[in-house]
Amino acid sequence: MGGRTPIEPQRVDAPLTSSATFLVLSVKLEDDAAINTVRSTLASVEGLSKNVSIRDLSASFACTVGIGSDAWDRVTRQPRPAELHPFKEFHGKKHTAISTPGDLLFHIRAQRRDLCFEFERQLLDSLGDAVSVVDETVGFRYFDVRDLLGFVDGTANPVGPAVTDSIVVTEQDDPASAGGSYVVVQKYVHDLTAWRNLSTEQQEKVIGRTKLENVELDDAPGGQQQSHKSLATIEDDQGEEHDILRDNMPFGSPGSKEFGTYFIGYSRKLWVTEKMLCRMFTLDRDDVLCTFSDSIG
Ligand code: HEM
Repeated sequence: MGGRTPIEPQRVDAPLTSSATFLVLSVKLEDDAAINTVRSTLASVEGLSKNVSIRDLSASFACTVGIGSDAWDRVTRQPRPAELHPFKEFHGKKHTAISTPGDLLFHIRAQRRDLCFEFERQLLDSLGDAVSVVDETVGFRYFDVRDLLGFVDGTANPVGPAVTDSIVVTEQDDPASAGGSYVVVQKYVHDLTAWRNLSTEQQEKVIGRTKLENVELDDAPGGQQQSHKSLATIEDDQGEEHDILRDNMPFGSPGSKEFGTYFIGYSRKLWVTEKMLCRMFTLDRDDVLCTFSDSIG
């Protein structure tokens, strides 16, 4: 908490909120005037956040900004973070983690939808035609922090001092980027009819936790089947586990038959999130394909 008024710029570890907007924008990178507009707007994000959050300090308003690899040099004129690069696609037999355009990400969070709405409105007013909107997704909190698949999502997130350890780049990692964090987002749309055709037991095996009580399950012996939670558990060569911080949100609307999960993961080391993705999409249990580690990070 930041003293008298709990407003802090760029709180990657902001508390879970009931509402969030994920806004992805493309910047007119060849246009100097557009770059100047983007630079001055980014410099004013702290001020914009204050404009909105002061109206209800109990609503835990927070906004974090991500700057994409292609836009980094033009927009920041700062040294590049060591691991920053365009999103790597992962091609599995069945599914592909696709790379889509986007130069700026705004992760806007609050307990009140109107605060997210108002911040986004003021932000886009300021950016004007320097940017175009690639994707705008409004997420909501669903029952006991469940995703639309019906499972409690976020349980294994780091807590306490482990949060900073997992998400903040240190001087030792990369002096020029110390204090920053890597963020990856993905938008998943669920085939809920197919999911509901699975028994609860089958669904629990996919996720790796029981549905009602959220108890962690062991994987089937012999590596026959690996659950989501196991594929997403990353250990390095020394056996040390590396966490990321997730603040996934359900999105969609029954009227348009759209049911989704917006994945957002913050990490101190980008390779950790990439390795999770690689293992999930390729089902590479033995890290034959997914060989990311600190040494090559
Ligand atoms: C449709 C998208 C996704 C859904 C619905 C989903 C849902 C879940 C659920 C229900 C859990 C178990 C409870 C918990 O610990 O949070 C979980 C765990 C986890 N997920 Fe996901 N997830 C999704 C995508 C991803 C992606 C893309 C990543 C990483 C790139 C990821 C990383 C993790 C991690 C690290 C855990 C904790 C594993 C552990 O137990 O240590 N998830 N997820």
